[in-house]
Amino acid sequence: MSAPDERAVPVNAPSDEEVSATMNKGYAPEVRERLERDAKEIIGRYPRPRSALLPLLHLVQSEDGYVSDDGHEFCAEMLGLSKAEVVGVSTFYTMYKRRPMGQYHVGVCINTLCAVMGGDQIWDELSEHVGVGHDEATPDGKISLERLECNAACDFAPVMMVNWEFFDNQTPDSAKQLVDDLRDGKEPSPTRGPKKLCTFKEASRVLSGLPDGLAGDGPSAAGPSLEGLKIAKANGWKAPEA
Ligand code: FES
Repeated sequence: MSAPDERAVPVNAPSDEEVSATMNKGYAPEVRERLERDAKEIIGRYPRPRSALLPLLHLVQSEDGYVSDDGHEFCAEMLGLSKAEVVGVSTFYTMYKRRPMGQYHVGVCINTLCAVMGGDQIWDELSEHVGVGHDEATPDGKISLERLECNAACDFAPVMMVNWEFFDNQTPDSAKQLVDDLRDGKEPSPTRGPKKLCTFKEASRVLSGLPDGLAGDGPSAAGPSLEGLKIAKANGWKAPEA
């Protein structure tokens, strides 16, 4: 999980109107009951309840598409924390969103290697094409965009992610086509990992520690990541004994 980057991230705090529109609506009883059941399962995995704060923030994000005021209060209540303590954590990490994200949250890596391989150009063209900026969603709620730091996939630069699944070796044109396909309901397959894309809310639920059963689907390593292994095997090289 990455901490904020002041270079890449413009000021993007919700406006006063956005904040007041989301204050204290309260979860419906059946939603609250379901969230409590899931939260108790997660909290039970840790020796101290407060250690479950990060996964619980993902859990409430899976309900609302961002960490709402209700979500902050729910986490505080479940963990015996003050709301200020919860907000202090959720506003530090960039994976917790302060306004609703799209059904498909599209990230463009603009960190060093991806940037020099075209990531900055992809971001500029894609942002203009979609008409939204960093951590903003389209009015129809389908797409949100984020400037991402390194995704540990530099050997496939420039990379993009949709709901945290990889789309490797992108260009400005392929990025725009990818987003157009998502908006048209075509559900393109990630380059690696599961063939089917989940929604942003579903991905948040998985990040809370409640698996969707797809973790082992599809290849996780491929192409350039395996070149060194192939060369070592061809030459009979082995790691030195410890
Ligand atoms: S710089 Fe983009 S994945 Fe590492």
